[in-house]
Amino acid sequence: MSESDSRMTTWPKAPVELPTLDGNVHVWAVRLDDTRVDLDGGRELLSPDERERVARFHFDLHRRRYLIAHIALHEILARYLPLDPAQLWFELGTNGKPKLAPALAAHGVDFNLSHSHEMALVAVNRFGEIGVDIEYARPEFKFQEIAERFFTAREVAALRGLPANLQRQAFFKCWTSKEAFLKAKGTGLSGKLDEVEITLGAPEQVRIGASVPGWSLSELTPGDGYEGALLIAGGALPAICYRWQSD
Ligand SMILES: CC(C)(COP(=O)(O)OP(=O)(O)OC[C@H]1O[C@@H](n2cnc3c(N)ncnc32)[C@H](O)[C@@H]1OP(=O)(O)O)[C@@H](O)C(=O)NCCC(=O)NCCS
Repeated sequence: MSESDSRMTTWPKAPVELPTLDGNVHVWAVRLDDTRVDLDGGRELLSPDERERVARFHFDLHRRRYLIAHIALHEILARYLPLDPAQLWFELGTNGKPKLAPALAAHGVDFNLSHSHEMALVAVNRFGEIGVDIEYARPEFKFQEIAERFFTAREVAALRGLPANLQRQAFFKCWTSKEAFLKAKGTGLSGKLDEVEITLGAPEQVRIGASVPGWSLSELTPGDGYEGALLIAGGALPAICYRWQSD
């Protein structure tokens, strides 16, 4: 692992032979500032719709982040199907949630992608809805205002009740958990936001609780400065976390 890889995430590189998805889910961390990724070669893996998106970005920074996230998405999913990464294409499900195209659905692989700042997460599940969210906990972000706008009165009170040094982390844990719910269900902004609750675990540890029948929430710790959450349909499954590296 290079020094900069280990600064970004401590998740290990995946083994050549991946464990099966039976009985667990896999979550991959992708560095979006990885200068080793062959952007021109990788662009060839993308579907026509994705290439059109790439062409529409005004800023190189946003184009580069999207490209690396989607190159990784193709390379990661191709390992499970198994197919050539360039043979994958997607369709939008209800409320715009990307899915593998119906012709590939028989493989039973569900996924969800999230990106923030210089990191993306790709979560992969077998035969079950999945949602993942990552947020870079920007130090200057005015989280109190956002909490007051989107969180429930109980959550705002719980947040305010935490020691000041834990509030930012608690906000981002709660936010990513809510987003992961919305993304798993594919409801986007039409979904409810009040199904997650902040609690304070001992000692001085922020925990997020959620009890929604039929869904399981897990916190993710993808790397320094980032918070993440994973939501799957059904009972809780262990998440095996890997770091994606372009080969
Ligand atoms: C897509 C959405 C669901 C999440 O967006 P986001 O958190 O800004 O961005 P993320 O990086 O986590 O997710 C984007 C990815 O999710 C996937 N996605 C897009 N629409 C989706 C949907 N309806 N459901 C699930 N996944 C979706 C895509 O792969 C997308 O990546 P791409 O554009 O590179 O293909 C967003 O449109 C949304 O509705 N957010 C809710 C905002 C909100 O009010 N949150 C309050 C939380 S307290």
